[in-house]
Amino acid sequence: MTIDYKQDILHFDNNNILEIAKSRQTPFYLYSESIIKNNYNSYSESFGDHSHNICYSVKANSNLSILSLLAKLGSGFDIVSGGELTRVLTAGGDPSKIVFSGVGKTQEEIIQALDNNIMCFNVESKDELNTINKIAKQKNKKANISFRVNPAINVNTHPYITTGMRDNKFGIDQSDILSLYKDASMLDGISIAGIDFHIGSQIMELEPYLESLVKIIAIVDDLDACGIPLKHIDIGGGLGISYEGEPIVDKSLYISEIIKIIGNRKLSLVIEPGRSIVGEAGLLITKIINIKESSTKSFVITDAGMNDMLRPPLYEAFHSIIEVVNTSTPKTSYDVVGPICETADFLGKDRKLSVSQGDFLAVENVGAYGFVLASNYNTRPKIDEYIISNNKVNKIRKRDTIDQILENEIKFL
Ligand SMILES: Cc1ncc(COP(=O)(O)O)c(C=O)c1O
Repeated sequence: MTIDYKQDILHFDNNNILEIAKSRQTPFYLYSESIIKNNYNSYSESFGDHSHNICYSVKANSNLSILSLLAKLGSGFDIVSGGELTRVLTAGGDPSKIVFSGVGKTQEEIIQALDNNIMCFNVESKDELNTINKIAKQKNKKANISFRVNPAINVNTHPYITTGMRDNKFGIDQSDILSLYKDASMLDGISIAGIDFHIGSQIMELEPYLESLVKIIAIVDDLDACGIPLKHIDIGGGLGISYEGEPIVDKSLYISEIIKIIGNRKLSLVIEPGRSIVGEAGLLITKIINIKESSTKSFVITDAGMNDMLRPPLYEAFHSIIEVVNTSTPKTSYDVVGPICETADFLGKDRKLSVSQGDFLAVENVGAYGFVLASNYNTRPKIDEYIISNNKVNKIRKRDTIDQILENEIKFL
């Protein structure tokens, strides 16, 4: 159990959260190195001797310490910007294990990636292919590419985080894919490496992956028959985590079922997990500023707001919110809201809590798409991040100062 109460005090990764919270400025993010390691290892141990590359999806949590931890475990990286490439390199990531995803890579980003000899560009359109080819030729290089196919699969997740349905902006139609590969095979600046798909995020079933893979494998076989053999297949990321106690897909079952479908084809397997590695490894610790009761609703007002944690307003995402000190007094139903001047500023609605002003709360499962979506809205500093490593709490990002927030502004008038 990585989160539990011992003598009514919340413990995370065996560390007393009350002690940690009392001596630090709230709100803050707190991660667990051991949970991240365990999740990474459950993937890496599932491949057996099948050739593979786990490319952690940097967008889920891009703190340098987390990237460096994963790099040391042997992880590759899935990036979506030049900024993420710089982060991975700064953290000590191996460029030959980097895949570059995204529909709108700029020329500058393509140059940066080529100069650093990344493993592969996941190409999203013919325009992008031509741009990469042009730049690679100017540099006398060959860019390794795979095309991201849209498998037109329905997945049961929030509409904003589906990516492989027919109407999404991501991926290339299956009907266009063979001719695109043939065009690419004629280009001097391009070396065809693989094929790629990513069907969305927070996916709680195996079937959409297997259905997609069957479609993609048919394309791989057609390409092989045309004399365009591929070296790898990239099945993206997206495995969900349990936010409300719901069952999740077992990582080793997921990998073994995928490997079964690949069969005896000589295809290395690339995966791009984000949330399923870091999601459950993070807590947001916040303090109750005020409690406000009206005749119709009661509110707990916390010092963490939507600028610190955007997922509830953005995706109507559920995150469990628990007391740091568990008391036996009866619980009341509250909306847990932040101090931002927006009605959408909530962490959770109708939560049963037994709390008073000044108490601490922990928001669970915020390691993925938590801090990375934070902003300075309402001129609020982005908050501290800490990681528990060998039972010690280490700061891995300092809270912004107001001077830093104002630093790049130009007082023109
Ligand atoms: C191309 C790509 N790969 C990987 C991921 C990581 O997804 P997740 O964090 O759900 O594993 C994403 C996120 O949406 C993505 O867009």
